[in-house]
Amino acid sequence: MPKIVIAIDGYSSCGKSTTAKAVAAKMNYGYIDTGAMYRAVTLFFLKERVSFTNQKEIEAALDRIHITFNFNARIGRNETCLNSLNVEEEIRTMYVSNQVSEVSAIPEVRWAMVAQQQKMGRRRGLVMDGRDIGTKVFPDAEVKVFMTADTYIRAKRRQQELLAKGELINLEDIIKNIEKRDLIDTTRSESPLVQAPDAILLDTSHMTIEEQVDWVIELADRKL
Ligand code: C5P
Repeated sequence: MPKIVIAIDGYSSCGKSTTAKAVAAKMNYGYIDTGAMYRAVTLFFLKERVSFTNQKEIEAALDRIHITFNFNARIGRNETCLNSLNVEEEIRTMYVSNQVSEVSAIPEVRWAMVAQQQKMGRRRGLVMDGRDIGTKVFPDAEVKVFMTADTYIRAKRRQQELLAKGELINLEDIIKNIEKRDLIDTTRSESPLVQAPDAILLDTSHMTIEEQVDWVIELADRKL
């Protein structure tokens, strides 16, 4: 059977990653969380105090960043590694979330990440989620989904996720972070978040993860 690329883009905290991961597992496809890559770059920039506006510093830092995904058999999922160090937990904290959209808007950062993502999908058989997968990374993806959901519902979900990891953040701060990220993501000059003309819109406000997964798989089945 031919293998395809499934691109899942959309706003922050709509359930993209959870859905994409489950779709990949069911289809026996690879899965790449591109948000994790931008988060890892942000963590590096923050730790190394890289100026977000100094092009030379940015380019030098990008040369020193190596991002990989290592499969952890114990928990059955990929973990993000930055220069061989497992940063999976650290990149999900509010410390990183508060800065990630600014770093993601830097053109040099995007060019470096997009090039790596395109290499990862060369052999197809891949589900990739992010903000520009259907528009920039794989404009020829066979399946394109654009996810959206009510902001309050997204914030509630995000709050639960963070709480499960022991981070107690009030809802107002999460709403502010989501709105700020959406604004920067949709208005940046380099590949802004926008629905590709051939992407299908999915509002996940009142859907369970299982429903979202079934919906994407049904869409993919029609292309196979
Ligand atoms: O998907 P996640 O919310 O973890 O992504 C974190 C941030 O990374 C987003 O808010 C966005 O600023 C950036 N991002 C991006 N392009 C992608 C994936 C994520 O700009 N393809």
